[in-house]
Amino acid sequence: MRLTVVGNPANRRVRSFTEAALAAGLDRPAVLPWRDVLAGAAPPESGLLRIDSPGEDAEVDVLLRGPGARAARDGEILGFAAAHAGMVAAATRIASGGAEPLNDPADIAVLCDKRDCHARLAAAGIPVPEALPPVHGYAQLRAAMAEARWSRVFVKPAHGSSASGVLALAVAPGGRIRAVTPVELTPDGLFNSLRLSAYTTEAEVATIVDRLAPDGLHVERWLPKATLGDRVVDLRVVVIAGRPTHAVVRSSRSPLTNLHLGNARGDLAALRAAAGPAAWSAAMATCERVAARFPGSLHVGVDLMFLSGWRRHAVAEVNAFGDLIPGVLSEGGRDTYAEEIHALVSGRWRACVR
Ligand SMILES: Nc1ncnc2c1ncn2[C@@H]1O[C@H](COP(=O)(O)OP(=O)(O)O)[C@@H](O)[C@H]1O
Ligand SMILES: [Mg+2]
Repeated sequence: MRLTVVGNPANRRVRSFTEAALAAGLDRPAVLPWRDVLAGAAPPESGLLRIDSPGEDAEVDVLLRGPGARAARDGEILGFAAAHAGMVAAATRIASGGAEPLNDPADIAVLCDKRDCHARLAAAGIPVPEALPPVHGYAQLRAAMAEARWSRVFVKPAHGSSASGVLALAVAPGGRIRAVTPVELTPDGLFNSLRLSAYTTEAEVATIVDRLAPDGLHVERWLPKATLGDRVVDLRVVVIAGRPTHAVVRSSRSPLTNLHLGNARGDLAALRAAAGPAAWSAAMATCERVAARFPGSLHVGVDLMFLSGWRRHAVAEVNAFGDLIPGVLSEGGRDTYAEEIHALVSGRWRACVR
């Protein structure tokens, strides 16, 4: 079984997956850098093909966005829609040569579009937050919120990840506004910060939303997440070959739980105890159902929220490249990459999807 990995050779995911393959006695996977893919490298003709995130590489980012694109400045929020289109086109091409993808480019296309993904899950009866109809700017957002009678929403760039461009927006009855977000608004653009800011003037919030809107927005009702102690919590659940095998609790004093924002990992045993066995099993069943919607994907990373009171849960998003949770082991004692390799070697993945 020849393995090829499309990714950045220096990326931790690529290195960890490579180590897992070697540890299982497989040949060293060939790494096909994204920049080579985007420069027209020939698709592999056989074997298995893992497609990894093209993220966090400025040179790759500008290539993804196509001829004439300008390079993003450090942390700049720029061209998400073009980068998504470029990634899907390149993934589709590189998977067209005969190698069998471990992540179907058609799945990647949906998973990296929060609107499409939400619609798919909702249609399958999977619990997701309610969403507003498409909005294309701030004025329309406020009109749609008023129409729905919602005072609190999450505004998400359709093709964002890692909390980039996400706003937790609350409008008080008197019209007072507060948006918590990692976005840094500057006179010459929007930038991602590793720290959250709170914007409380309508002019600032409107500017941010109107600058994000052309690349597509997905707006959901802000659901009250469950808490452990003084922190809100949610989960990243990695589902490999159809089974939820790894989970990490993300806890925060803010409404955004993404770990790279400085949020701490929480106590999984405490969360399971708080949820109780029935609510936990129901949540894991939801994660399985999510993965079953993406049968061409060896792994998916489900962001799962228990709602305040623990009885209900909802899926915040599903990640195509969500299997990096270092140090978390499955019941079998394997990290996510070793678990993926195990699924391939044991034939569990194929048995599961075909
Ligand atoms: N509808 C929602 N209600 C409450 N919290 C949410 C909602 N959607 C997302 N969140 C929170 O915001 C964080 C980021 O949202 P997510 O959809 O996962 O986007 P990203 O791709 O940026 O991680 C999540 O980890 C979750 O804690
Ligand atoms: Mg997320």
